[in-house]
Amino acid sequence: RVDHAIRPRRLVEYIGQPGAREQLEIFISAARGRAESLDHTLVFGPPGLGKTTLANIIAAEMNVDIKSTSGPVLERAGDLAAMLTNLQPGDVLFIDEIHRLSPVVEEVLYPAMEDFQLDIVIGEGPAARSIKLDLPPFTLVGATTRAGLLTSPLRDRFGIVQRLEFYGIDDLTEIVARSARLLRVEADREGAAEIARRARGTPRIANRLLRRVRDFAEVRGNGQLNAEIADQALNMLHVDRHGLDHMDRRLLLAMIEKFDGGPVGVDSLAAAISEERDTIEDVIEPYLIQQGFMMRTARGRVVTRQAYLHFGLAARDDIPHAS
Ligand code: ADE
Repeated sequence: RVDHAIRPRRLVEYIGQPGAREQLEIFISAARGRAESLDHTLVFGPPGLGKTTLANIIAAEMNVDIKSTSGPVLERAGDLAAMLTNLQPGDVLFIDEIHRLSPVVEEVLYPAMEDFQLDIVIGEGPAARSIKLDLPPFTLVGATTRAGLLTSPLRDRFGIVQRLEFYGIDDLTEIVARSARLLRVEADREGAAEIARRARGTPRIANRLLRRVRDFAEVRGNGQLNAEIADQALNMLHVDRHGLDHMDRRLLLAMIEKFDGGPVGVDSLAAAISEERDTIEDVIEPYLIQQGFMMRTARGRVVTRQAYLHFGLAARDDIPHAS
């Protein structure tokens, strides 16, 4: 991956997410003014919206190093202890997928976050010894797809919590235009906007589509990226006019054709389309819900009239509008 070439490094380069950006500007500026480390920060939201990017920006703005790991990688208490004892004062420790930490590792994290104390047992049986160490002050930046996946003691130890939202078309157009400039692709505004409209509100998807449309423009066109070339390339990639991809359509069509529009439980849905339940909940349905194609109700998932309309199908009278 060559994403680092187009990733924004500083807050001023970061497009969109005005709420998160404004709050972070203030909290970072205040922490810097007091010569303190930034409070522990939890960033959550669907994949591809810039959680990792934001962690790196926080470190850059605080003028400190960042050490990155992820929940599943930290298998034992010692794995986390090794990361923590490697930190310089003020450093950022970034833990991606922090909801997947094991309970024993999470236990080590609490005193580390709260009192900058490392409290671990090494060895086993008669040789077991308890070790307490002072840690330098540091900032834990945790990332997860849904805040609800965290245990509440962990969630409660974050002083700053930022939710990332799907990007609107204008912000996403700006991101595509910026990436095109950095990749030296000649893209006009309408071309960038066409990619933005069909990128599921997600910069990572927009940047991936940009590279594929660039390929198409170079081979089938004259290298210039405009709305017509983008439309042709995206149709070839089976990204439809609403930006729904193959998986989105499979999910919605399964709900319509196999479950009569719902309500249907997520596990039944997962079985019907041979997908992981987590993939449906974390990746596929958040965008479909946000766009009004489906809803979560107490009795399960239901599709909306808009979904029937999207496929040119007639909806029964009792199929709901998006609320
Ligand atoms: N690339 C990915 N996300 C971005 C963002 N929020 N701003 C600018 N460039 C980006």
